[in-house]
Amino acid sequence: MTVAANYPVYPVIWRDDHVQLIDQTRLPQQFSVVEIRRSEDMAVAIQTMIVRGAPAIGVAAAYGMVLGSREIQTDQREQFLADLEVVGDRLKATRPTAVNLFWAVTRMLRVAHQTWGPISQLQEQLLATAQEIATEDLQTCQAIGEHGLNVLPPDPEKLCILTHCNAGALATAGYGTALGVVRSAWSAGRLARVYADETRPRLQGAKLTCWECVQENIPVTLITDGMAAHCMQQDLIDLVVVGADRIAVNGDAANKIGTYSVALSAKAHQLPFYVAAPLSTIDFDLANGQSIPIEERHPAEIYQIGSTDICPSGVEFYNPAFDVTPAALITGIITEHGVFKPEELQDKLSHYRSLDP
Ligand code: MRU
Repeated sequence: MTVAANYPVYPVIWRDDHVQLIDQTRLPQQFSVVEIRRSEDMAVAIQTMIVRGAPAIGVAAAYGMVLGSREIQTDQREQFLADLEVVGDRLKATRPTAVNLFWAVTRMLRVAHQTWGPISQLQEQLLATAQEIATEDLQTCQAIGEHGLNVLPPDPEKLCILTHCNAGALATAGYGTALGVVRSAWSAGRLARVYADETRPRLQGAKLTCWECVQENIPVTLITDGMAAHCMQQDLIDLVVVGADRIAVNGDAANKIGTYSVALSAKAHQLPFYVAAPLSTIDFDLANGQSIPIEERHPAEIYQIGSTDICPSGVEFYNPAFDVTPAALITGIITEHGVFKPEELQDKLSHYRSLDP
């Protein structure tokens, strides 16, 4: 049974003195909210994927820093800053691939270092910054959605868009990157249907993307990951839009495992393949995708369905959670500042990077 929520959906919310997270491990069967009151609980929530998706992890980590700043028992500035670094290190140790996590923690630490006055003032400034990060992400996703309209092919009038994993409201502060483009296309009357890859092994496509589409009556067809190439061959797909967890300056883009296969299939069928992501997903320190750290998760994610083992014992496992799509397979990167070819990223975006608070 799919449970309905009031739209719009905000996966990470600050409420009085704590954070409320939509528990994404329980959707679509159950819409429930988890209260997070300690930075350690936020670290566990990120690790266990109660909150997931690169920008949402960034927002959650920023609030984790706020909670951590309130746990520190000192009125000495230097000690406070040192303890806050430790909170940041714990949050950064949760998931290695999505760069937004590191970006958000770094921004929070920078704000703490740049704020003078009593500790209470630093704590207030940290809360204001986390709220700013959340608000900015919402606006950023809406801008990505708008820019995405410019890449929609004119023909047919109503398009079928394939997406992989969940890069929607649940994965951001509340609108989505790839699903932000889908939402804009739907509002503009340009969308016929979304094809959602189920996204083995954690099924973010089946559980989360389909849930989001159903909430807004956006027509959605669920397929297994192995069906994407077939659907392209059958002319069911007009373009592909996916999110990203980390983009190197040459345009190589890490996203959920299986994205690379989708990009290869799109290339083979001459279909446009777009990556939609905010500036905070670009890692300006990485020349190319080879050194993007790829998270490996517990093998139970692939050897079990529910609590049932699906293979004989004696098998070995490999469970990378992300893969890297080479820039050559990417038609364009849709950002809040416009759409860029992968090779244009460095020149065109370094200007905006210098404006990054
Ligand atoms: O493991 P997850 O569910 O956190 O992975 C999420 C993805 O790969 C998303 O596509 C990506 O973070 C972009 S979200 C706007």
